[in-house]
Amino acid sequence: MLTGDTPTGRLHLGHYVGSIENRLKVQEGYECYFLLANMHAFTTRAEQYEQIREDTIEIVKDWLACGIDPERSAVVLQTEVPAIAELTWFFAMLVPFNRVMRNPTLKTEIESKGLGDQYPFGFPMYAVGQCADILAFRPAYIPVGVDQVPHIEMCREVARRFDQVFCGVDPKTEDADYAGAGGVFPIPEALIGKVGRLVGTDGEQKMSKSLNNAIYLSDTAKQVKKKIGAMYPGQSRDPDQPGDPEINPVFEYAEIFIKDEGFVNELKERYRKGDNLGDGHVKVHVIEAVNELLEPIRERRARYEGAAGDKEVIEIIREGTKRANVIAEETLAMAKEAMGLRFFDREDVLG
Ligand code: TRP
Repeated sequence: MLTGDTPTGRLHLGHYVGSIENRLKVQEGYECYFLLANMHAFTTRAEQYEQIREDTIEIVKDWLACGIDPERSAVVLQTEVPAIAELTWFFAMLVPFNRVMRNPTLKTEIESKGLGDQYPFGFPMYAVGQCADILAFRPAYIPVGVDQVPHIEMCREVARRFDQVFCGVDPKTEDADYAGAGGVFPIPEALIGKVGRLVGTDGEQKMSKSLNNAIYLSDTAKQVKKKIGAMYPGQSRDPDQPGDPEINPVFEYAEIFIKDEGFVNELKERYRKGDNLGDGHVKVHVIEAVNELLEPIRERRARYEGAAGDKEVIEIIREGTKRANVIAEETLAMAKEAMGLRFFDREDVLG
């Protein structure tokens, strides 16, 4: 299994329910690689390279705090896996330029980040790079949020095309049989998190750092209380008058974070009837549930505070990247062999 994040800042609840939860499940049964897509961060903010470095370390702290276990799973630094950069070039030959530019995730990003037509060449290139991030590990699964689906679809197209062009795999082959039919690359599948779009504390837009409506995994219990406490419940009402839980974003959180479904249904029923249930009461239960989820995350995070924590994190990245290079180099050698690029061994000409 392979997945990754672009280091852009601390992770929030939207990331958790959108993808991290799934990653933790997959970690139980698969060999896992968690990629720090630090090169991708340079596509839109190269001049903030120092911040990118800090964000890279922060995101690992979030991962470890969530329960990603470095004994089992490799934490991988993209810029120290040279095979990814090389495979990016190969794959760039297999996907039409217009196909890349039609990718809806890129289009949305150009709009939401206001990039206009001033983005660097490397920006659309990252979508091809992401195919290499993934395929370097020849994974079966990619746990991601729903916004990443267009990238995964492109990656699957590239894998099929490579196998067809260079390995003679019949285009009629079922996706599941590509590797068995002699392809270098299996066709990987996205695993989508249970909540595609978590609403932010503004009750309207998707939770996101740039919109200032996020509850971070590293927020204190007090911050969580304050943020949820200040949410507008979508309507103003008297606790003895009927309300509509469907237009109240606090209920969206209740459904996602309160584990006891019967209890949530009961709350909704009482809210609908106007059975002496104020918005403040609902919030108390939601705050409790969110804090219950975050408490062990906060505890594990505390271990990595400060300079000593940074050092430990860098060691984890080094270890994971070393493991990653074993498989990525193997993949690269297989790809070059298939492409007729193996004139001699690389060891003979490097070093
Ligand atoms: N583009 C992803 C994001 O912004 C991060 C990413 C980079 C990724 N490479 C990946 C995700 C490979 C999954 C697989 O969230």
